[in-house]
Amino acid sequence: MKIDVLLGLQWGDEGKGKVVDVLTPKYDIIARFQGGPNAGHTLEFNQIKHVLHTIPSGIFREDQANIIGNGVVIDPIIFTKEIESISKLAVDIRKKLLISKKAHLILPSHRILDAASEASKGKTKIGSTLKGIGPTYMDKTGRNGLRVGDILSSNFKQKYNSLTDKHKQLLSMYDFDYTLEDYEKGWFEGIDTLKMFNIIDSEHYLNQELAKERSVLAEGAQGTLLDIDFGSYPYVTSSSTICAGACTGLGVAPNRIGKVFGIFKAYCTRVGSGPFPTELHDSTGETLREKGHEFGATTGRPRRCGWLDIPALKYSVMLNGVTALIMTKADVLSGFQSIKVCTGYKTKEGIIDFFPYDINIIQEPVFKELPAWSEDLTDVKSSKRLPPELKEYIKFIEKELSVPVKIVSVGPNRKQTIIL
Ligand code: GDP
Ligand code: IMO
Ligand code: MG
Repeated sequence: MKIDVLLGLQWGDEGKGKVVDVLTPKYDIIARFQGGPNAGHTLEFNQIKHVLHTIPSGIFREDQANIIGNGVVIDPIIFTKEIESISKLAVDIRKKLLISKKAHLILPSHRILDAASEASKGKTKIGSTLKGIGPTYMDKTGRNGLRVGDILSSNFKQKYNSLTDKHKQLLSMYDFDYTLEDYEKGWFEGIDTLKMFNIIDSEHYLNQELAKERSVLAEGAQGTLLDIDFGSYPYVTSSSTICAGACTGLGVAPNRIGKVFGIFKAYCTRVGSGPFPTELHDSTGETLREKGHEFGATTGRPRRCGWLDIPALKYSVMLNGVTALIMTKADVLSGFQSIKVCTGYKTKEGIIDFFPYDINIIQEPVFKELPAWSEDLTDVKSSKRLPPELKEYIKFIEKELSVPVKIVSVGPNRKQTIIL
């Protein structure tokens, strides 16, 4: 059996959580492969609205196993809060959730280092979610990190102290006040919570399940344009958000990858700093933010909004080998006079139609204007009832990207999903 992957093609918040929840009944296992609690994946069903940070978005369905893979970084404090709020919804989470021994731990001092580093950068700050993501992945690649498997060893406290001491030395280089004790108590309680779960060799488990013809959906976090290698560096996250990250973040071979679902909003958003060629600083941007409720699921920060960026999407489709597209938030575009789509960028050297190394060379986007629609889409259940202008918009995107759009989402609820 192959493993399918669903991942974001923009700067995150494309609606991955919602659509993974919709697709979950088709799979036996849902697995997060990278990122950590910088992610906020929102699910809405049966009058429940829930935001997941570390736990895969298949957790509310009946039978599926949900795996936190080796590529994920876990903050025991945030993890515990997630467990508590999910448990209130009568989900038997201890049975359904499996955690990789090789997933790395976010220490209290990682969070403090993240905050200190951002504060020291002033205007050039990344706009991090301040969850300690960067410092934790730095310790992973620097071969200093602590992993979930370590919590079972007898000298775990010693390992913790040794890494925290290193961090204290690093922190002395910053002019930054902090108190570790605030975090530490909750953190060690969180370690006890983690110990109550099934901590496994998830790469073996997944490959064995695939060999038994069990189906797996890998759930992305963040988006392709936040990828450590291919995103708008340095304004990126610290992990591989692309399809290749599913291989390293779960321990599955590239030839095991099946369908790749690339998810994008019908327009664009970005939260945090960094270039955003199609950003709208006017009332249209404001309207997108209001109609789309564009406020971060993790930090509550207002998201920057702009029109759809085709060269950026083409780049993401190429990097991920996307086989099917999923468009979300089509409902938010109802009622605009017209819709603009960026097809290229004006630079000093002329117009280019690719996402460049240095995004700052872009003077302004080149837009194509398309007709809009006025119908409210939020109750539309079948593709037949989609307005012709939206069908044209979808056709235009499919032609530009050479990949079919298979799902259109017209609202945050599980039910507001149209399979084409
Ligand atoms: P994720 O990080 O990719 O899972 O996305 P987020 O949950 O951070 O952000 C997506 C937001 O849009 C959430 O508030 C969702 O409830 C909401 N959402 C998802 N799909 C749709 C849609 O089709 N229409 C509307 N209006 N909202 C949607
Ligand atoms: P989901 O999975 C949107 C952004 C942050 C910041 C940059 C680096 O919900 O789509 P970090 O905390 O990783 O050091 O922040 O990346 N960012 C996200 N933006 N959605 C996310 O996740 C994000 N995760 C990180 O805003 O600009
Ligand atoms: Mg999100």
